[in-house]
Amino acid sequence: MDDSGGRTKGKPARIGIVTASDRAFRGEYEDRGGLAVREYLAEVLVTPWEAEVRVVPDEEAPIRAALVELVDRAGCCLVITTGGTGPAPRDVTPEATAAVLERELTGFGEAMRAASRPRVPTAILSRQTAGVRGRALIVNLPGSPGAVRECLEAVFAAVPDCVDLIGGPYLETDRSRVVAFRPH
Ligand code: MTE
Repeated sequence: MDDSGGRTKGKPARIGIVTASDRAFRGEYEDRGGLAVREYLAEVLVTPWEAEVRVVPDEEAPIRAALVELVDRAGCCLVITTGGTGPAPRDVTPEATAAVLERELTGFGEAMRAASRPRVPTAILSRQTAGVRGRALIVNLPGSPGAVRECLEAVFAAVPDCVDLIGGPYLETDRSRVVAFRPH
Protein backbone atom coordinates (compact mmCIF):
# COMPACT_ATOMS: atom_id res chain seq x y z
CA MET A 1 0.00 0.00 0.00
CA ASP A 2 2.38 2.68 1.23
CA ASP A 3 5.83 2.36 -0.24
CA SER A 4 7.15 5.88 0.19
CA GLY A 5 10.86 6.27 -0.15
CA GLY A 6 11.05 2.86 -1.77
CA ARG A 7 12.35 1.49 1.52
CA THR A 8 9.36 -0.19 3.06
CA LYS A 9 7.28 -2.71 1.21
CA GLY A 10 3.68 -3.23 2.14
CA LYS A 11 1.74 -1.58 4.89
CA PRO A 12 2.97 1.19 7.16
CA ALA A 13 4.25 -0.01 10.53
CA ARG A 14 1.47 0.16 13.06
CA ILE A 15 2.37 1.70 16.41
CA GLY A 16 0.06 1.69 19.42
CA ILE A 17 -0.07 4.64 21.80
CA VAL A 18 -1.90 3.98 25.08
CA THR A 19 -2.55 6.76 27.55
CA ALA A 20 -3.46 5.58 31.03
CA SER A 21 -5.15 8.52 32.74
CA ASP A 22 -8.45 8.76 34.59
CA ARG A 23 -8.77 12.44 33.74
CA ALA A 24 -7.92 12.07 30.05
CA PHE A 25 -10.32 9.11 29.85
CA ARG A 26 -13.14 11.22 31.35
CA GLY A 27 -12.32 14.05 28.95
CA GLU A 28 -11.35 16.44 31.78
CA TYR A 29 -7.82 16.69 30.53
CA GLU A 30 -6.21 16.77 27.10
CA ASP A 31 -4.16 13.66 26.29
CA ARG A 32 -0.86 15.53 26.25
CA GLY A 33 1.29 12.47 26.96
CA GLY A 34 -0.14 10.56 23.99
CA LEU A 35 0.30 13.60 21.78
CA ALA A 36 3.95 13.92 22.87
CA VAL A 37 4.57 10.27 21.90
CA ARG A 38 3.00 10.89 18.52
CA GLU A 39 5.01 14.05 17.92
CA TYR A 40 8.26 12.33 18.87
CA LEU A 41 7.63 9.41 16.51
CA ALA A 42 6.71 11.79 13.68
CA GLU A 43 10.00 13.62 14.23
CA VAL A 44 12.18 10.55 14.39
CA LEU A 45 10.76 7.86 12.09
CA VAL A 46 11.28 8.14 8.36
CA THR A 47 9.66 4.84 7.39
CA PRO A 48 5.87 4.98 6.98
CA TRP A 49 3.91 4.34 10.16
CA GLU A 50 0.43 4.83 11.51
CA ALA A 51 -0.79 5.36 15.06
CA GLU A 52 -3.43 3.36 16.90
CA VAL A 53 -4.37 5.57 19.82
CA ARG A 54 -6.21 4.43 22.96
CA VAL A 55 -7.06 6.39 26.12
CA VAL A 56 -7.94 4.22 29.11
CA PRO A 57 -8.57 4.78 32.83
CA ASP A 58 -5.90 3.98 35.43
CA GLU A 59 -7.14 0.43 35.93
CA GLU A 60 -5.40 -2.83 35.20
CA ALA A 61 -8.10 -4.57 33.17
CA PRO A 62 -8.63 -1.83 30.54
CA ILE A 63 -4.88 -1.26 30.19
CA ARG A 64 -4.30 -5.00 29.71
CA ALA A 65 -7.16 -5.20 27.23
CA ALA A 66 -5.82 -2.28 25.17
CA LEU A 67 -2.33 -3.82 25.04
CA VAL A 68 -3.62 -7.24 24.02
CA GLU A 69 -5.90 -5.75 21.38
CA LEU A 70 -3.17 -3.57 19.89
CA VAL A 71 -0.64 -6.42 19.70
CA ASP A 72 -2.77 -9.48 18.98
CA ARG A 73 -5.49 -7.99 16.80
CA ALA A 74 -4.28 -4.65 15.42
CA GLY A 75 -0.81 -6.09 14.72
CA CYS A 76 1.23 -3.26 16.25
CA CYS A 77 5.00 -3.83 16.21
CA LEU A 78 5.54 -1.28 18.96
CA VAL A 79 3.19 -0.12 21.71
CA ILE A 80 4.12 2.86 23.85
CA THR A 81 2.17 3.58 27.01
CA THR A 82 2.20 6.85 28.88
CA GLY A 83 1.14 7.45 32.47
CA GLY A 84 0.35 5.37 35.52
CA THR A 85 3.91 4.29 36.28
CA GLY A 86 4.39 6.03 39.62
CA PRO A 87 3.84 4.92 43.23
CA ALA A 88 0.28 6.27 43.71
CA PRO A 89 -2.45 3.70 44.40
CA ARG A 90 -4.02 4.11 40.96
CA ASP A 91 -0.70 3.85 39.09
CA VAL A 92 -1.01 0.33 37.69
CA THR A 93 0.42 0.49 34.17
CA PRO A 94 3.55 -1.58 35.00
CA GLU A 95 1.42 -4.34 36.57
CA ALA A 96 -0.94 -4.41 33.58
CA THR A 97 2.03 -4.47 31.23
CA ALA A 98 3.87 -7.23 33.11
CA ALA A 99 0.70 -9.34 32.99
CA VAL A 100 0.65 -9.34 29.18
CA LEU A 101 4.39 -9.52 28.47
CA GLU A 102 5.97 -12.78 27.45
CA ARG A 103 9.46 -11.53 28.24
CA GLU A 104 10.50 -8.47 30.17
CA LEU A 105 13.30 -6.17 28.93
CA THR A 106 14.40 -4.56 32.16
CA GLY A 107 17.07 -2.44 30.45
CA PHE A 108 14.49 -0.02 29.10
CA GLY A 109 13.24 1.08 32.50
CA GLU A 110 16.76 1.20 33.89
CA ALA A 111 18.02 3.35 31.01
CA MET A 112 15.10 5.77 31.14
CA ARG A 113 15.36 6.29 34.88
CA ALA A 114 19.14 6.69 34.68
CA ALA A 115 18.91 9.25 31.86
CA SER A 116 16.21 11.29 33.60
CA ARG A 117 17.60 11.21 37.11
CA PRO A 118 20.32 13.87 36.86
CA ARG A 119 17.70 16.49 35.96
CA VAL A 120 14.64 14.98 37.65
CA PRO A 121 15.34 13.43 41.07
CA THR A 122 11.83 11.96 41.10
CA ALA A 123 12.61 9.92 37.96
CA ILE A 124 13.25 7.02 40.35
CA LEU A 125 9.57 7.07 41.29
CA SER A 126 8.64 5.67 37.88
CA ARG A 127 8.27 1.89 37.80
CA GLN A 128 8.20 1.94 33.98
CA THR A 129 9.04 -1.35 32.31
CA ALA A 130 9.13 -2.85 28.81
CA GLY A 131 9.13 -6.19 27.10
CA VAL A 132 7.97 -8.39 24.28
CA ARG A 133 4.58 -9.85 23.51
CA GLY A 134 4.45 -11.80 20.26
CA ARG A 135 6.04 -9.64 17.59
CA ALA A 136 5.61 -6.42 19.54
CA LEU A 137 7.77 -4.36 21.84
CA ILE A 138 5.80 -2.67 24.62
CA VAL A 139 7.41 0.28 26.42
CA ASN A 140 6.03 2.21 29.40
CA LEU A 141 6.68 5.93 29.78
CA PRO A 142 5.64 8.35 32.54
CA GLY A 143 2.72 10.65 31.81
CA SER A 144 4.20 14.12 31.50
CA PRO A 145 5.06 15.31 27.98
CA GLY A 146 8.59 16.24 29.09
CA ALA A 147 9.12 12.78 30.52
CA VAL A 148 7.82 11.19 27.33
CA ARG A 149 10.40 13.02 25.28
CA GLU A 150 13.33 12.48 27.65
CA CYS A 151 12.58 8.80 28.10
CA LEU A 152 12.13 8.08 24.40
CA GLU A 153 15.33 9.97 23.67
CA ALA A 154 17.13 7.70 26.16
CA VAL A 155 16.12 4.40 24.54
CA PHE A 156 14.97 4.94 20.97
CA ALA A 157 18.32 4.03 19.37
CA ALA A 158 17.70 0.44 20.52
CA VAL A 159 14.08 0.20 19.36
CA PRO A 160 14.55 -0.57 15.62
CA ASP A 161 16.96 -3.44 16.33
CA CYS A 162 14.63 -4.88 18.94
CA VAL A 163 11.71 -4.73 16.49
CA ASP A 164 13.89 -6.47 13.86
CA LEU A 165 14.85 -9.23 16.31
CA ILE A 166 11.25 -10.03 17.23
CA GLY A 167 10.12 -10.22 13.61
CA GLY A 168 8.60 -6.78 13.16
CA PRO A 169 8.97 -4.36 10.24
CA TYR A 170 12.15 -2.46 9.41
CA LEU A 171 11.97 0.89 11.18
CA GLU A 172 14.27 3.59 9.95
CA THR A 173 15.09 6.77 11.81
CA ASP A 174 16.12 10.25 10.74
CA ARG A 175 19.84 9.99 11.45
CA SER A 176 20.08 13.67 12.32
CA ARG A 177 17.74 12.91 15.28
CA VAL A 178 18.43 9.33 16.37
CA VAL A 179 20.95 6.90 14.95
CA ALA A 180 19.42 3.44 15.23
CA PHE A 181 22.05 1.02 16.52
CA ARG A 182 21.77 -2.23 14.55
CA PRO A 183 24.51 -4.67 15.57
CA HIS A 184 22.64 -7.68 14.13
N1 MTE B 1 10.99 11.18 34.08
C1 MTE B 1 11.30 12.28 33.37
N2 MTE B 1 12.20 12.18 32.42
N3 MTE B 1 10.70 13.47 33.61
C2 MTE B 1 9.77 13.60 34.60
O1 MTE B 1 9.23 14.71 34.77
N4 MTE B 1 8.51 12.48 36.38
C3 MTE B 1 8.69 11.49 37.45
C4 MTE B 1 8.97 10.09 36.91
N5 MTE B 1 9.80 10.11 35.76
C5 MTE B 1 9.42 12.45 35.36
C6 MTE B 1 10.09 11.24 35.06
C7 MTE B 1 7.60 11.45 38.40
S1 MTE B 1 7.36 12.87 39.32
C8 MTE B 1 6.81 10.35 38.61
S2 MTE B 1 5.67 10.29 39.87
C9 MTE B 1 6.98 9.15 37.78
O2 MTE B 1 7.76 9.42 36.61
C10 MTE B 1 5.71 8.47 37.37
O3 MTE B 1 4.93 9.27 36.52
P1 MTE B 1 3.52 8.74 35.99
O4 MTE B 1 2.74 8.27 37.18
O5 MTE B 1 2.91 9.89 35.25
O6 MTE B 1 3.77 7.58 35.06
